Amino acid sequence: MNILEIIEAKKQGRELTAQQIRYVVDGFTAEEFPVYQMSAFLMTVWFNGMTPAETAALTGAMLESGEQLDTSVLTGPSADKHSTGGVGDKVSLLLAPLAAECGLKVPMLSGRGLGHTGGTLDKLEAISGYRIHMDNDEFLSITEKVGCAIIGQSGSIAPADGRIYSLRDVSATVDCVPLITASIMSKKLAAGPEAIVIDLKTGSGAFMRDLDQARELAKALVETGKHYGRKMSVVFSDMDQPLGRAIGHANETIEAFDALRPGHRQTAPQDLVVLTEDLVAEMVRVAEVCIDRSASLELVREAWDSGRAFERMLLWVETQGGRINGDLPDFGLKTAALALELKAPADGWLAGVNCREAGLALADMGGARRKVEDPLDLSCGIDFLPLVGDAIVAGQTLARIFCDDASAGQVAAERLLAALEFSDDQVAANTMILDRIQ
Ligand code: URA
Repeated sequence: MNILEIIEAKKQGRELTAQQIRYVVDGFTAEEFPVYQMSAFLMTVWFNGMTPAETAALTGAMLESGEQLDTSVLTGPSADKHSTGGVGDKVSLLLAPLAAECGLKVPMLSGRGLGHTGGTLDKLEAISGYRIHMDNDEFLSITEKVGCAIIGQSGSIAPADGRIYSLRDVSATVDCVPLITASIMSKKLAAGPEAIVIDLKTGSGAFMRDLDQARELAKALVETGKHYGRKMSVVFSDMDQPLGRAIGHANETIEAFDALRPGHRQTAPQDLVVLTEDLVAEMVRVAEVCIDRSASLELVREAWDSGRAFERMLLWVETQGGRINGDLPDFGLKTAALALELKAPADGWLAGVNCREAGLALADMGGARRKVEDPLDLSCGIDFLPLVGDAIVAGQTLARIFCDDASAGQVAAERLLAALEFSDDQVAANTMILDRIQ
């Protein structure tokens, strides 16, 4: 086989065999041919797409480039959730203990945030002592004992994706459905759960800006997951405004854990509650713990309202070495010293939020990365208070900016204000769950 012939075949629009695709992935991972040839290959895929069989073969080759967890050691149905990323997305921190409390085993491998999006791993690092690295045996043994565990994805999981993703980032080939599908699914399949629920976000803070694009990706994710014997479901959710009130790390972790307290399902930000309970119920349903959607939702609400999920969260964090105090409102997490207030300039309605800009306002204070290796300030954050559709009165507090450096906080406040759109006329609220497929 020859890489040039494979690139030429793809350029001519011919379907590649699984062997040809494996040759490309293995050869590139082993550095057997140069980056410029892989760039050319990726660009031909960008232009010509891939058939479902090619996408499945690409996923398989990337999956088998590294370790795969053996979840057959878990004594219960296993399920995981993957979010395509957004601003204020702290759902995993509530979802994992809720799903565990509903009888699922939830081994989650999470990533870091990049650009305007936040990552679960960074939020967990705001907890002192919390261990995000451990070997696979310990990870699975905590998942078995507690029902859930969340750690960082190590370089041994789908290493081909690491190399290919870095190249896609600098060769204008990120926004390509088969490449995104293989990238997401190779990592998710490696963690081994039987059921996978995808939270596919659309809107100004998401990777997929519109629902049509998102549907195409969803179809490819479901087809590929099913090809590998997984039970799949995709929930399309709104990312045209930050999820919940908190944007940051320590403040998002506090918001997520606080929402789990018994009685707080009714008082916590309802966008966060609606999405979280929907995704957990979907995991419960798809993993066949309970096959009826409304009965699954009842199960989740009971786990939440009884306080059992809150206790499960405390056990999970403690088992992974994290030191939090559930009796304190802020769980003892370190937050920034100053809280600047951003006030509304005029009366009206909040008509829109450029969510990407809201995420980048956090970056202005050192709370998000421009590059993967950038250090992060975990204690700064933004509490963005109104929702699209809310009536606004001049002078009301729109956001609290938590920072240690007032001038950096001021820059963030200005960026956030510029990201908001106001209307003199009443505006409809956003809908959180936009659609679903399975
Ligand atoms: N998330 C991933 O893991 N990979 C992509 O290609 C896009 C989003």
